[in-house]
Amino acid sequence: MRDPGSVHAPEHRVDPVDAHDPAKLARWFDVYEQAMSAGVGWPLPMDATQARAEFDADRRPPGLIAYLATDAAGRAVTGAGWMFAPAGENQHAVEVSFAVLPAHRRRGVGRAILAAVGDQARLRGRRLLLGHVHEDLGTEAPGLAFARAAGGSVSMRETRLAAPLDDPWLDEQWSAAPTSNPAGLQIRCWQGEPPPHLLVSYARLRGRFQLEAPVGSAPRDRLSWSSGRVLRHVQQRRASGRQELVAAAVDGDQVVGYTELEYAASTGLAWQQQTLVAPAYRGHGLARRLKHANLAQLHASWPAATAVHTWVATINQPMLAVDRALGFEPVQIRYELALRLGS
Ligand SMILES: CC(C)(COP(=O)(O)OP(=O)(O)OC[C@H]1O[C@@H](n2cnc3c(N)ncnc32)[C@H](O)[C@@H]1OP(=O)(O)O)[C@@H](O)C(=O)NCCC(=O)NCCS
Repeated sequence: MRDPGSVHAPEHRVDPVDAHDPAKLARWFDVYEQAMSAGVGWPLPMDATQARAEFDADRRPPGLIAYLATDAAGRAVTGAGWMFAPAGENQHAVEVSFAVLPAHRRRGVGRAILAAVGDQARLRGRRLLLGHVHEDLGTEAPGLAFARAAGGSVSMRETRLAAPLDDPWLDEQWSAAPTSNPAGLQIRCWQGEPPPHLLVSYARLRGRFQLEAPVGSAPRDRLSWSSGRVLRHVQQRRASGRQELVAAAVDGDQVVGYTELEYAASTGLAWQQQTLVAPAYRGHGLARRLKHANLAQLHASWPAATAVHTWVATINQPMLAVDRALGFEPVQIRYELALRLGS
């Protein structure tokens, strides 16, 4: 009997990867990285260290499956991807990511992978696939035409920006450093777990992110952020080789703004994550002040860091303006694609 996660189209096979076998997982990630990186000049957010940790059979969350696509005989590898059916929130959706090696494109491999993840999603009662396509500026991503041909649509457009942490850039940052904190707020920086007295208000503000920032038109549940969830998030990041760095604005004992970076020592790259300033504290340059403090913390703790990358919704002009003022340059567009599954 064939594996319930496999699809055997006449010319293509799509099989789940054995997550108990580190060599198979490493080979899968090589193919995935190669296929995803074809035609784009910027690194993937997921690196081999993180993939090893997140997809490992003992640690991966249920519902996370890696796939390898091959020819019908199972010999020539043609593409790779993964799907994640989250437990808890968003039980209606599945996140997917896959790519086909350039030499095997336009032969139905992408369609076969989509069929495999679509079957798995339906089996779990999910009705929405969410994925991303990356397009360097001035190029046209094949993934967009592919997704549209499959009946999908763009649910969010984001601009990827990058800043090199080289000497000229850093000199400019330090010379333009804000000297005082707006409205006498304290700026607190930490790495990993938040200071215990700030944990509850940090979790509360983090829970407002989906309400305050543009998050696209795909239907998503609002994530509820408790202290426990914040601590689990930090531990998960650490287990996948990422150090979390936070700069927060504190009024009394309340966090009223924060910005987060994830640093991957394996690649030297830092990934700018969420930034949020509570509405009553906006308009005083706080976002810039926070990002500046966090970049300073990154540079002081991890001098080997070579660049910071971030994604900002293209309609989020205030955040884009802050990043541009900090010297970040747009390099890529990322489209979030949503595909509703029929029965
Ligand atoms: C998108 C991608 C997965 C498509 O894989 P593929 O195996 O070439 O796609 P298929 O051969 O199954 O194409 C299915 C249909 O999609 C459309 N399509 C695919 N690539 C296209 C392109 N470059 N231009 C226009 N239409 C395209 C066509 O309608 C095609 O049907 P047809 O060949 O009968 O005309 C591949 O280009 C890729 O790996 N891109 C980078 C990663 C990515 O964007 N992934 C998106 C999924 S999250």
